[in-house]
Amino acid sequence: MTNDIRHFINLPDVGADALKGIIKHAHALKAEKFSPPQIMEGLSLAMVFDKRSTRTRMSFELAMKQLGGHTLVMSMDDMQITGAESLQDTGAVLSRYVDGLMIRMSDHAQLEELSRNTTIPVISGMTNDSHPCQIMADILTIEENLGDIRGKKVAWFGDYNNVVKTFEQAAPLFDFELVISTPEDLYDKSIPPQEAAKDADVIVTDTWISMGEEGKTIDKFMPYQVNADLMAHAKDSAIFMHCMPIHKDEEVTPDVLNSNACVIYDEAENRLHASKAILAWSMENTGVRLL
Ligand code: CP
Ligand code: NVA
Repeated sequence: MTNDIRHFINLPDVGADALKGIIKHAHALKAEKFSPPQIMEGLSLAMVFDKRSTRTRMSFELAMKQLGGHTLVMSMDDMQITGAESLQDTGAVLSRYVDGLMIRMSDHAQLEELSRNTTIPVISGMTNDSHPCQIMADILTIEENLGDIRGKKVAWFGDYNNVVKTFEQAAPLFDFELVISTPEDLYDKSIPPQEAAKDADVIVTDTWISMGEEGKTIDKFMPYQVNADLMAHAKDSAIFMHCMPIHKDEEVTPDVLNSNACVIYDEAENRLHASKAILAWSMENTGVRLL
């Protein structure tokens, strides 16, 4: 492999300048959503999943197609990699067929290992450790609703999972404050829910049971539920975010979902615009015109 392949796996590896450029481009691409530039013409993206997906799959497939490119979707179960084929051979062969790979692969280290064996950019569609594309869509959503993300207070509640871990990576890169309120056995810098919510600009949560954790008990998460009482501690202008899918009356209550603070469908739509900008950045070396 060469060193200048633009993988989108770990936000710190992409770097603050590139990430800010991607967000700027995502804003521009959203403004052009009814006449998308055909910057992916002639290029192909493989999309591989080892877990379910609605938003990641649809946003990347539509992003690539709306920008004039091709997609090919596979379940990892249908590929030889689930049998005996090595990550090395899988990476080398995919590199001969397509110009980019977007992959949801549970094992983060394996995804990184795969990326070291491709000559095409690899975009993480979520691992058990991180969800970088989601956080880019979230930053786009925060900026649309509240302006520049710098200095904003983002308060996270519930599980300490792949999504909040990616917020932790993003906070110093985008200069926002992140506070986390979770059971203390999961995260030792956790703060109490009302303190976390106080004067927050953004209240955010996620499922208490991530994919692959089925059967986990959730009682200990109840004090971290996002409900109207908790929202009352945030700023009047605060927004509520959730990457979805939602489990009503678990991590969030219907009163919050039905309130004006709730921007979850904007957030879901923004996966599409963020995906376009991530694709454009990753595949720029293949001749894609960025702006
Ligand atoms: N938020 C998110 O990644 O959703 P999917 O699992 O539907 O892709
Ligand atoms: N934390 C969740 C996010 C789903 C988009 C999971 O990993 O299942």
